[in-house]
Order: sequence, then C-alpha cells, then structure tokens
Amino acid sequence: MGELQRELPDVDATHALACQLAAVVAAGGIVWLRGDLGAGKTTFARSLLRALGVKERIKSPTYSLVEHYPLPSGNDAWHLDLYRIADADEMDYLGLDALWAPGAVVLVEWPERGGPALPPADLEIHFSQAPEADGRHARILPLSARAHAWLHQLAAMDPAGERPMGTCADAAPRA
Ligand SMILES: Nc1ncnc2c1ncn2[C@@H]1O[C@H](COP(=O)(O)OP(=O)(O)O)[C@@H](O)[C@H]1O
Ligand SMILES: [Mg+2]
Repeated sequence: MGELQRELPDVDATHALACQLAAVVAAGGIVWLRGDLGAGKTTFARSLLRALGVKERIKSPTYSLVEHYPLPSGNDAWHLDLYRIADADEMDYLGLDALWAPGAVVLVEWPERGGPALPPADLEIHFSQAPEADGRHARILPLSARAHAWLHQLAAMDPAGERPMGTCADAAPRA
C-alpha cells in the first residue's frame, strides 16, 4: 500500500485518527508530521500522546523544541517542534540520543529542519487544509517495513472514527 488518505472534517476526526495510530505505534515508532503552520500537527500529536496514556499536561514544544513523556507501557514518548531550528547543528545541544531507542515513540513537527540527529521516519503524515474548508486532509505515507504493516492495520479500521478498544476511552478530544 503506497499511502492512506483520510479526511479530517473536524478536530474529533483528527483525534479519532490519532487514537487509531496510537494503537499501532505504541511499541515504538518515528512519526514525522508535515504541513504548514496551522495544518493541525500539534493537535494530532496531543491526541496521540493522550491515547498512549499521557496524563500530564501536554505543552506545545514550540519554545522548548522537545518534550519528553514517560508512557505507562514503560516506553518513552518524545514530541519535537523544530520550527525554530535555524541550523541542523543546533540539534546536537538537545541531547537526542534517546530518540533512537527501539521502543521510543517520536512525533516530530518540522522534521525537515532536524538533519541527521533525527532518527529516520517510519511514517510521514502530511496535513493540509483545503481552501474554503474548515477541516483538514491527511496523507499517511509508510517509509519502513513496520510502517507498511501499520498502514494495513489502519486501513482495516473504520475511518469514520471507530476507536480501537481501550486506547482512547479517557482521552480528551481537545487538549
Ligand atoms: N481536523 C481539523 N479540523 C478543523 N480544525 C482543526 C483540525 N485539526 C486542527 N484544527 C485546528 O487548527 C488550529 C491549528 O492547529 P495546530 O495543531 O496548532 O497546527 P500546527 O501544529 O500544524 O501549526 C487549531 O485551532 C486546531 O484546533
Ligand atoms: Mg504545531
């Protein structure tokens, strides 16, 4: 499967997609989130982190560049926003070795600014907003062998928002 596309007419639809993806990346995965400012990357990342069981406040990493969350599974999640990185060398000061750990769940906004310090993506999600429409559109591209398997799992889930059992019962639709 080359890619999967989903219409996200509202934030609840973004949340539902994040819940479904959480079920397949919980054991570890590198997810790059692409799209213009306002395309819905942070909204998606927050929903995904909630779905993975993060209870604490989820801050946008706009200024900190990177936020870390221990997961109930024992794995670690990382949320990066590299918009403010001017030169990929700046990444060296962030101490990102842990991102390469096998079970790490890593969500990266503006990955094109990260350079070689960033682990290669399993999955890329491109968010865009149709002109004169409120909703968003997501293109989900698998870039690794395990991500191809994830895409098959996602494709088998109801795009209308059927949430996988147990993953999103207490997840707030909005952060
Ligand atoms: N699927 C969606 N439909 C409508 N609005 C959305 C959707 N996803 C996100 N938004 C809204 O878009 C705005 C910007 O989202 P945000 O996640 O901060 O974008 P980004 O991180 O890409 O800059 C927020 O007000 C958010 O509520
Ligand atoms: Mg953002």
